[in-house]
Amino acid sequence: MSDSHTNPAVTYASYLKVDELLSLQQPRSEGEHDEMLFIVIHQVYELWFKELLHEFDRVRRLLEDDEPHRAQHTLKRILTILKVMVAQLDILETMTPLEFISFRQRLEAASGFQSDQFRQIEFLLGVKSEQAIRRFPEGSRARVELERRYHEPTVWDAFLRYLSREGYGVPQALLARDVVAPVEPSTDVQRIVVEVYRRDTKNAELCERLVDLDEGVQEWRYRHAKMVERTIGRKPGTGGSTGAAYLRETVGRPIFPDLWEIRSQL
Ligand code: HEM
Repeated sequence: MSDSHTNPAVTYASYLKVDELLSLQQPRSEGEHDEMLFIVIHQVYELWFKELLHEFDRVRRLLEDDEPHRAQHTLKRILTILKVMVAQLDILETMTPLEFISFRQRLEAASGFQSDQFRQIEFLLGVKSEQAIRRFPEGSRARVELERRYHEPTVWDAFLRYLSREGYGVPQALLARDVVAPVEPSTDVQRIVVEVYRRDTKNAELCERLVDLDEGVQEWRYRHAKMVERTIGRKPGTGGSTGAAYLRETVGRPIFPDLWEIRSQL
């Protein structure tokens, strides 16, 4: 029997699973026009989160393999995606507070707060919490992924280990630090990074891409917080937090504190 009988030709729809994809938008309200946008944009974000995780894993691997140029190239891709993600918030901001209220009740306690992929990205960047893991049922995809990432080195750990292999005197305590702990500023690392900026163009550029990444994530947090404020004001979030006030606290917290600290030392 020829192959064409057993395996029908690949088409756009079969390769991309278009029918399945288009069946996944299921509004809960009765015909409230704006709910479709709300669902689509969140699903699009989840897909971007998936792609970001895929690329972050690569960045970490490339640093482990001493491939700084390729790591930078991948970081550039991540930053470009982040820019698109920030720009997409403009679309949601075309939704007025009343349009949102028209279906908000139907969300019940659902909130972006429960996005496990967002937490996975935070874990990769060094913002880890056991509480974030416990929110997901044992054995669920989300929990398994979060548990795995919780114990993995962060992007910053991979960077410090790379710098050490480049001949910089990163203290042993930092190279072997507990990867679960938050990334704390270190004067030793700052001294090294100042040296990198003064003498080592290749690695200084890598540092700049990490600063871009840090700024990009902060930009998303800021724009999301502002969007929330203009949409629900001071009302609490569907996820149970204080809403805009909670989100404001997460804005401006650097991911890589040492890379910001050295700016005033240069
Ligand atoms: C009208 C649109 C939106 C509103 C009113 C809104 C509201 C909120 C609120 C109030 C929170 C705080 C947690 C809570 O109590 O619920 C939150 C968290 C969050 N939202 Fe949104 N959101 C919107 C759109 C989006 C979109 C499009 C995304 C993309 C995935 C998103 C992702 C997140 C994430 C990841 C968090 C957790 C942030 C953190 O804990 O640092 N949100 N959102």
